[in-house]
Amino acid sequence: MIGGKIIRLKLVDSTNLYLQQCIRKSEIVEGTIVIAEEQTDGKGQRENKWESAKGENLTFSFVLYPNFLKATDQFLISKIVSLSLVDLLKNYVKNVKIKWPNDIFIGKKKIAGVLIENVIKGASISSSVIGIGLNINQKEFSEELKSATSLYLETGKDFNIEDILIQLLDCLNGWYDKLKNEEIKDIHAQYEKALYQFNEFCSYSANNEIFNAKIIRVENDGRLCVTTDSNEIRKFAFKEIQFL
Ligand code: BTN
Repeated sequence: MIGGKIIRLKLVDSTNLYLQQCIRKSEIVEGTIVIAEEQTDGKGQRENKWESAKGENLTFSFVLYPNFLKATDQFLISKIVSLSLVDLLKNYVKNVKIKWPNDIFIGKKKIAGVLIENVIKGASISSSVIGIGLNINQKEFSEELKSATSLYLETGKDFNIEDILIQLLDCLNGWYDKLKNEEIKDIHAQYEKALYQFNEFCSYSANNEIFNAKIIRVENDGRLCVTTDSNEIRKFAFKEIQFL
């Protein structure tokens, strides 16, 4: 069960790094969470840093051993984690979307990010460390994070971080059960339904070229599939396309 065991830390470099070190050193039960009040080296995607004010937000990581999943289906983990965040946030705010691959947006602003680090052995996934940063009570963000938001900024209210964690764990356990029960169609459908800019013509850039396209699906391997306004189908892996 996700959250069956919780390791609480006041200060750590990164909960993802800490959990990876624990996994290397000893047996860590599936679903174990490491949660920190403050990270000195919080990691984001694309080698970015994840900044979060001390004690104001949720910053935690947990481990799964989804050895029932083929390595080629690893993007399903990204989908169920994003969907869990969407389900949680829908209780408090409107217009919650998943910006491919797994950023969680309210309108045009990012409220949560996910960093998944899988270890692949042969054709299967031997461990998956999933780090989540969810902005809850933070009231101001630095200049570089102009497009960040928090539950406080969206609702004008402060939230109890522990209550939000418990609700998020419920959502994560629900979606992980669906994955184990092979309810894959539902996972794909719900992810597509929540996808930011799905089926809308918008501007993107790739290979130093700007073009209009609409997202038509996400491939099983996680690639974003779009149709351009000249009816060409193009597929992009993470980092190969930018949303403008
Ligand atoms: C992103 O959107 O760039 C991903 C951000 C992930 C941040 C979380 S905070 C908890 C966990 N520990 C880390 O160092 N990163 C993830």
